[in-house]
Formats: sequence, structure tokens, C-alpha cells
Amino acid sequence: MHIETYILLYNVLEKSFIIGKSVRDEAILDLLSTSSIYKSLSIADLGCSSGPNTFIVVSDLMDTVHSKYSLLGHQTPEFLVYLNDLPRNDFNSVFTSLQGFHDSFKESIGDEFGQCYVFGVPGSFYGRLFPSNSLHFVHSSSSIHWLSQVPRGLDDNKGNIYMSKSSPQSILDAYFKQFESDFSLFLKLRSVEVVCGGRMVLTTLGRISKNRSSKDCCRAWELLAMALNDMVLEGLIEEEKVHLFNVPLYTPSFTEIMDLIHNEGSFSLNQLEVSEVDWNFEENKDNVGCCEYDKLKIGYMFANCMRAVIEPLLVSYFGEKIISELFHRYEAIIADSIAKEKNKFITIIVSMTKRY
Ligand SMILES: C[S@@+](CC[C@H](N)C(=O)[O-])C[C@H]1O[C@@H](n2cnc3c(N)ncnc32)[C@H](O)[C@@H]1O
Repeated sequence: MHIETYILLYNVLEKSFIIGKSVRDEAILDLLSTSSIYKSLSIADLGCSSGPNTFIVVSDLMDTVHSKYSLLGHQTPEFLVYLNDLPRNDFNSVFTSLQGFHDSFKESIGDEFGQCYVFGVPGSFYGRLFPSNSLHFVHSSSSIHWLSQVPRGLDDNKGNIYMSKSSPQSILDAYFKQFESDFSLFLKLRSVEVVCGGRMVLTTLGRISKNRSSKDCCRAWELLAMALNDMVLEGLIEEEKVHLFNVPLYTPSFTEIMDLIHNEGSFSLNQLEVSEVDWNFEENKDNVGCCEYDKLKIGYMFANCMRAVIEPLLVSYFGEKIISELFHRYEAIIADSIAKEKNKFITIIVSMTKRY
């Protein structure tokens, strides 16, 4: 992810990053407190992406472990860090930034710092990635809402590209069914790879409402569909192409997540936090009064964040040619929406322990 987009994303999602850090810290400290001294700790980050944020979570976790062990007078363990993403991820750029990651740790911690071995693990987290009983801590953020495939049976979702308030019930059910199957499989696979008592912290986009087509999780996609449909009307994209396009993503409610963890049965739920972030990130910083210029700027920033997330999928389906025009329109639609309605992103953070 481009550095500028990362900074934008950080601004927009700052609140959920902060909550995520406190949940992760609590989970890793709890892990340390319930076992004898670790000589080595295996940490996996699933859906690590590439860019400045790739090492942030892992660095934080290592920092927390180091501080705790220093306080107790123990040697910091060796870290085995596994960075996973799909094979098309830019692992080269991840490994190019590895030296900087090592250097900054040596600089802040010095010689007390144990060894850290970093491994790239290309592959889908909907398949086995690690040997049995090999991981102590699994983290994944903003990744498990991606489904393994576009759900089957979305033929009646005309005019939409995701679940929407105008989607028939069969579409909402098809999306949930796919998530139910994917998330249950994810838990089952990880349960084999994580040691008993090991921790897993997941952060995902989601929703509070029971309603699957709630505005909180669907509005961004409804507005993107609006931009695509405008381009259809102007003959810039074929209608049939938009009709057949659906985003392979699901934004679960926290009760759906709790139920699926409970039903799958391999992990016990320790903590679940929900963070609400206003699209208008100025609001999240308690600023009052947002001028027209701010709305346009926020529209630009928001559209760029969404672009970072969805562009590869759009390019592979619609081709490169429509992208700039599409996001130009999307920016304006978002700015208009921010001026007229209150929209939120909901992030769900869940911490669990592998059962004995
Ligand atoms: C929005 S990025 C999140 C990056 C980073 N974890 C963060 O929080 O900023 C989502 C990442 O999940 C990866 N991803 C999506 N589906 C995946 C799968 N089935 N297996 C592994 N990675 C996946 C994508 O390739 C992408 O890099």
C-alpha cells in the first residue's frame, strides 16, 4: 500500500487501530502469564499486505513481549515471525524493508533483543499454512472479511455490487452462507496450527445492526455501485458487466462472529470490541464544523482508501481504462454523501484462546 494511502487510512481508522493495539497487548501479555518462560515465540500475521504497515503489529507485539520480559528479568525470546498473504502480494517489497525493521529494533532495544527470524508464507488463509501446533499468536487485521470466492446465487443483485438495501433476501443469505463456511473453515484450520492456549486476535470490518444490508456496512459499496451505474448510463461500461460484478466480501455482525466461534468450538472467546469510525474523520477527532473544502478533501481521501482496497479486483474485472474516471466520480459522490448523511465504518476486534 502506498505510504500516502496508509497515512490516510490511519487518519480514518485511527480509533480502531488504538483499540486493536490494546486488545493485542492484553492477549499477548495474557499468553506470557499463563506459561513458563518462552525461549521462542511464533507469531503469524495473516493478510499482512505490503507497505509501511506490514511490520507495525509485529513490532508492537515484540515490543510488548520485550518490555514484559525485561521487567521480569528474563531474556527476550527468539521471535519467529510469519508474514502471510496471497501469492500475488508484493513480498519482495516486504523483504526489502526487513533490514529497516531489524535496525529500528536493535536501535531502540539494543543487544538485549533476541533474534528475530522472518518468513514469508504465500497462500490463502482458507487453506493450511503452517505445521500443526506451531504458532503461539495469530493476528489478522482487515483481511478475514474477504471471502474465499464470490458467493453463488447472486443473479438477482442487479444494480448492486454488494449487499444493499435493495438486494433481495436471497442475496443477503448467500453472502452470509459464504462467510459462515469461510470463517468456520478459517477457525478449524487455525485450530490445528495454533498450540493449545495460543491466542488469536482478528480485526474485521463489520456491522452492529442485525440487518445484513445495514447502511453501516453497505453504504460505501452502494455509492461505488452508483458511480458504476452512472458510467453505464453514459455508455462507458456495459450494463451486463456491472450486473455480474459482486464484491467477495462480508461484513459480519458481532453476534454472527460470536455464534460462529462458539459453534466451531476450537477457540474460546476472551474479548470482543466494536469501534465506530465516522467517514468524516474530522468528526472522530472532535473537530466541529466542517467546511465544503473539507468535505471534498475527505471525499478524496475516502475514495483513495477504498481504491487501495478494491482497485486490483476492479482492474482485473473491468480493465485499467475505467478506473481513474470511476474513482473521480466516486470521490464526488462520497463528498456529497458526507455533506448529507452520517456514515460510519464499524470495526470488530475479537480475541480468543485455542482450547485445550
Ligand atoms: C486491507 S489489506 C490489510 C493489510 C493489513 N493487514 C492491515 O491491516 O493494514 C487485506 C489483505 O488481505 C489479503 N487477503 C485477502 N484474502 C486473503 C486470503 N484468503 N489469504 C491471505 N491473505 C488474504 C489481501 O491480499 C490484502 O493484502
